[in-house]
Amino acid sequence: MGVKEGLKGRSFITLRDYTAEEIAYLVDLAAELKAKKKKGITGSSLAGKNIALIFEKPSTRTRSSFTVGCLDEGGHPEYLGCGDIQLGHKETVADTARVLGRMFDGIEFRGFSHATVETLAEYAGVPVWNGLTDDFHPTQILADLLTLKENFGRVGGLKFVYAGDGRNNMANSLMIGLTKMGMELVILAPKVLWPREELVRECEGYASASGGSLTICEDIACVKGADAIYTDVWCSMGEEDKAAERIALLSPYQVNESMMASTGKAETIFMHCLPAVRGKEVTEGVLEGRQSVVFDEAENRMHTIKAVMVATLGNY
Ligand code: CP
Ligand code: NVA
Repeated sequence: MGVKEGLKGRSFITLRDYTAEEIAYLVDLAAELKAKKKKGITGSSLAGKNIALIFEKPSTRTRSSFTVGCLDEGGHPEYLGCGDIQLGHKETVADTARVLGRMFDGIEFRGFSHATVETLAEYAGVPVWNGLTDDFHPTQILADLLTLKENFGRVGGLKFVYAGDGRNNMANSLMIGLTKMGMELVILAPKVLWPREELVRECEGYASASGGSLTICEDIACVKGADAIYTDVWCSMGEEDKAAERIALLSPYQVNESMMASTGKAETIFMHCLPAVRGKEVTEGVLEGRQSVVFDEAENRMHTIKAVMVATLGNY
């Protein structure tokens, strides 16, 4: 694939900032990098680049994806845990951003407040990539889109049901990304966990531009015809105290064998960003079953995150 103009030097904070064409390019670039890696071919587009990986919250997939993706392209990743640096404690986030921006060529941030990653991007002077905040998880969506494309050969027109907490970072990011890509997105959740009205309006705008649709519903009958059913943990990182309340609210929305059968399609796939809590948001049988693509999806985190770094920072 050729270089796509206009991506170099850009941060990746939410999918709001990216057009459908740019998102499709990143997914296709990831597919190309994945195919090359399967043949043992890695690159050097990040040679000489130092990348800071700031983590306030734990991570398996995202941390490993940034690390391996960076190393595969010849860059140097440096993990900076929240206990290791001064971020927001002894100095302001803006000061840390300016210091790290003088030393590193790109910065990944995972943490609590979305404002932190926005401040880093505003002050660092180098690309900043959002590895998850309380509000958004945009790199996950690229992996989800790649996984859908691998399974169906396309994403536009697919019916995709997200069942669970409709107000969390995954729901928010799926809403932006999938409506931009022309998908039929259903957020299936109890009314108290429906997405914010303002975000719904924004994403309805993306859907009408792309030919997709966005439906918010609380009746599990809406899974009928779904090509993919997706869920996420009922308590996101930092919400552990809400467990009892969420179990009561979300148990009817568990993705189980009965829900998968209710799509009426034998080829419906099951997706989850992981980590999963078996027996809560998804049954063991569905997670381990023939329709589950969760480990392809996890692997695709690395190829898509690599694509983001290569496209925004790499010599490619
Ligand atoms: N899906 C995801 O972001 O996983 P990690 O929390 O392990 O990074
Ligand atoms: N909503 C989850 C996503 C984990 C990848 C969380 O924030 O914990």
